Amino acid sequence: MCKTLIAYFSASGVTARAAKAIADAVGADLYEIRPAQPYTPADLDWTDKRSRSTTEMNDPACRPAIAEPVPDMAQYDTVLIGFPIWWYVEPRIVDTFLEHCDCSGKTLIPFATSGGSGIDRAEKRMQALCPKAVWKRGSLLGSSGAADWAKRILNG
Ligand SMILES: Cc1cc2nc3c(=O)[nH]c(=O)nc-3n(C[C@H](O)[C@H](O)[C@H](O)COP(=O)(O)O)c2cc1C
Repeated sequence: MCKTLIAYFSASGVTARAAKAIADAVGADLYEIRPAQPYTPADLDWTDKRSRSTTEMNDPACRPAIAEPVPDMAQYDTVLIGFPIWWYVEPRIVDTFLEHCDCSGKTLIPFATSGGSGIDRAEKRMQALCPKAVWKRGSLLGSSGAADWAKRILNG
């Protein structure tokens, strides 16, 4: 057991590109945290107080369902978890993933993309949801550099 999984959620493709670049660079398995009910453009409208994303993010207990079962985590010792920042934190579906995978004792490393907000608040929330994992400092990734960051963090 010495395998790495790249698990990611991406609503509009930016985080997906980073996740794929990372998986290629480090030879890791890739798992998309795919919502059972896909997000429409209207769902993602953060200027609409009643849009699905706004409603979900206003409810800390909301856990949107994931389409595919979470992979068998026994084969992985390290999981990189990628997501877009929504309202300064991780989207609620990432919390669904964290609560469904048994990550005790595994090394978890978050990465995110955003319009400028940092990853710190997301990291704190995620650590509280999975306190038995060994958390490594995550990173906000730009449009390039994802592969180099992953190689550095996994080999260092
Ligand atoms: C509902 C919603 C909320 C967002 N909230 C933030 C935010 O708080 N700060 C920020 O910098 N960007 C925010 N963004 C922008 C996304 O984080 C950014 O566009 C991200 O790269 C999208 O990644 P994706 O294509 O993988 O979904 C938000 C986007 C959406 C749809």
